[in-house]
Amino acid sequence: MMLYPKRYLITAALPYANGPLHIGHLAGAYLSADIYTRYLKLMGKDAIFICGSDEHGAAITMRAQKEGTTPQKIIDKYHAQFKATFEGMGIDFDYYDRTSSKEHHETAAQFFKELYDRGVFEEKVTEQFYDTEANQFLADRYIMGTCPKCGFQEAYGDQCENCGTTLSPTELKSPKSTLSGGRPELRETRHWFLPLQNYETFLKEWLEEGTLKGKPHHDPDSWKPHVLGQCKSWIDGGLQPRAMTRDLNWGVDVPHEIPGSDGKKLYVWLDAPIGYISATKKWAQQNEEDWKSYWQSEDSALVHFIGKDNIVFHCIIFPALLQAHGDFNLPVNVPANQFMNLEDRKISTSRSWAVWVGEYLEEFPGRADEMRYALSRIMPESRDSEFTWKRFQDFNNNELVNSLGNFIQR
Ligand code: MF3
Ligand code: ZN
Repeated sequence: MMLYPKRYLITAALPYANGPLHIGHLAGAYLSADIYTRYLKLMGKDAIFICGSDEHGAAITMRAQKEGTTPQKIIDKYHAQFKATFEGMGIDFDYYDRTSSKEHHETAAQFFKELYDRGVFEEKVTEQFYDTEANQFLADRYIMGTCPKCGFQEAYGDQCENCGTTLSPTELKSPKSTLSGGRPELRETRHWFLPLQNYETFLKEWLEEGTLKGKPHHDPDSWKPHVLGQCKSWIDGGLQPRAMTRDLNWGVDVPHEIPGSDGKKLYVWLDAPIGYISATKKWAQQNEEDWKSYWQSEDSALVHFIGKDNIVFHCIIFPALLQAHGDFNLPVNVPANQFMNLEDRKISTSRSWAVWVGEYLEEFPGRADEMRYALSRIMPESRDSEFTWKRFQDFNNNELVNSLGNFIQR
């Protein structure tokens, strides 16, 4: 059991470079990760804090299309904005990378090739939605329809934003393409799948008992119940092969040595978490350190900070990939936060219901700590919480000024 790790590798979810950061992002992952890393460093521990922009996937191409520009322009804009916003809020990453970097493309492609060479994937021909007007296969996000679970009419092909259910596009009722608005047709395409069902025993032992190959790995009691609960219901729902590649024109190429790789990109949920590895490599290079000691040595602790919508990717899919690869550590904890609502409503980028962190910093210059305090005070660590401006004001006036101010004054 790793009671006293020699070093810590702390990651925070790579934010999609497709829209500005809001306070829900901070409260969900970045602030808690920053506080934890600061704490470890104050305790004299060897700890590094890694993050970067997630610049692939349909989230980016859709935004580019909406704004009538290119994916490259979108990611450049938001990557620069993210760096400045995080810095303004005192989120002190040791390295902040981006998944469009050359090093990341190399690392991700190599990781995929190694999995391929180790025979991890199953190659399968399946039917995918194809837009005959736009002449392309449709990423899950490009398909909208009615959620089979809750009846919400604007569910995406990968997830229903209303009830949180993870979906696949063919489960949607009355699917339509968001590109042309038309009804897409199913066409055959070949992809590489991770046979998740073969990892069930490994996942159960690792998640429920905290063991890895029969040896103690972490204490499952130290994990949040809501994190383990979500994993359990996913596993109980039946693990299925999951495609690790996509028919897209934006992303990391499937390595050309692999037959049939033409036009295929890595699935963004395979590519993005590998971003943690590439960013660690860049940090190590810059600091004359060894990245492998953080990722591959048994006395290192890996901790992923994420929001709750990222749980299955960090607790099931990425761990299965790391395990399949064989050379990498698995996280000792994934302390996912729940959501922070705003004035009685769910924060939503698409509906423009948010407190944008960049705007806050402009309107309240030099007041990052007041917001950090307010968000920490109501951090959604085990259940959803709610931010209101009235509460923000009260925390500031009653707690920071009155209580803390008075205390220091005396
Ligand atoms: N971009 C994703 C999101 O915002 C998070 C990616 S986390 C990573 O939900 F592990 F994949 F990097
Ligand atoms: Zn739903």
